[in-house]
Amino acid sequence: MQVRRLSFPIGAEVTGLDITRPLSGADREELVRHWHEHLILLFRGQPLTPQQHIAFTRNFGEADTHEANPDFRLPGYPEAIEVTNRTVHGKPSATREVGRAWHSDMEHTILPLKGSLLWCGELPGVGGDTMFANMYEAYESLSPGMRAMLESLEAEHDVIASFSDKYVAPDPAHVARLRLTAPPVAHPVLRVHPETGRKSLFLSERVRRFIGFTDAESAPLLRYLCEHATQPEFVYRHQWQLHDALLWDNRCVIHQALADYDRSQVRYMRRTSIVGEPCGRPAPQAAA
Ligand code: OGA
Ligand code: MN
Repeated sequence: MQVRRLSFPIGAEVTGLDITRPLSGADREELVRHWHEHLILLFRGQPLTPQQHIAFTRNFGEADTHEANPDFRLPGYPEAIEVTNRTVHGKPSATREVGRAWHSDMEHTILPLKGSLLWCGELPGVGGDTMFANMYEAYESLSPGMRAMLESLEAEHDVIASFSDKYVAPDPAHVARLRLTAPPVAHPVLRVHPETGRKSLFLSERVRRFIGFTDAESAPLLRYLCEHATQPEFVYRHQWQLHDALLWDNRCVIHQALADYDRSQVRYMRRTSIVGEPCGRPAPQAAA
């Protein structure tokens, strides 16, 4: 296999490897090493069936069965979800606005995902890009003073915090259901990657406040850190091609799906998810 960097801050494309077939142990180990070094890996021209997609995912850990999002599942394959604006039985798809704000998958739970593998099955004529930011870089480029201050902080992650009516008015019944099924959680703001030992910033637009601080006190610093982390120098913007497969590490990367395409055209993505390690705790009551 050959590996070529996709951008200065993050990512590499792997060529010379057919991921529709089982990997040798040596190839698997080499891929994992490249993944830890580059944080996202792109494989172009891979016409993956759902079975092949799931089988390839298992090279990196346990394939999640998406208990938290049963409506997103590909029928017959609990290990795969569909992220698409294709209508389902004539109704708008529940996943047509998935990922519109900066986030890490399932960060708002005490079992955030280790990785995700997104595959492109159908594309609009232009656009439908996804952006990725390197959160090691975000951390390492902060001043020693800021890094030391963040050491003791926890943040409240809440899936609802990132909803906006910018693209689609959130359905109040859906929001009410999420309030019950996905209560906010607290995570340390700094995270040490269990494999690489590197420290990263674990924040996104799904963070509402720092634990023990009010929303008003939290907002300016949260905003600063999010803008810092997603400055163009730290971001790679992926322009999809048909049958691209892209693997990212949710422990040190945040991402965002852009609505930069003609919504009357179909965008169809299939995703698998790699189970992570439990971390964080239910969020305590907000400060007054
Ligand atoms: C996701 C997600 C991005 C995209 O599936 O987790 O954020 O571009 N998708 O569809
Ligand atoms: Mn996502």
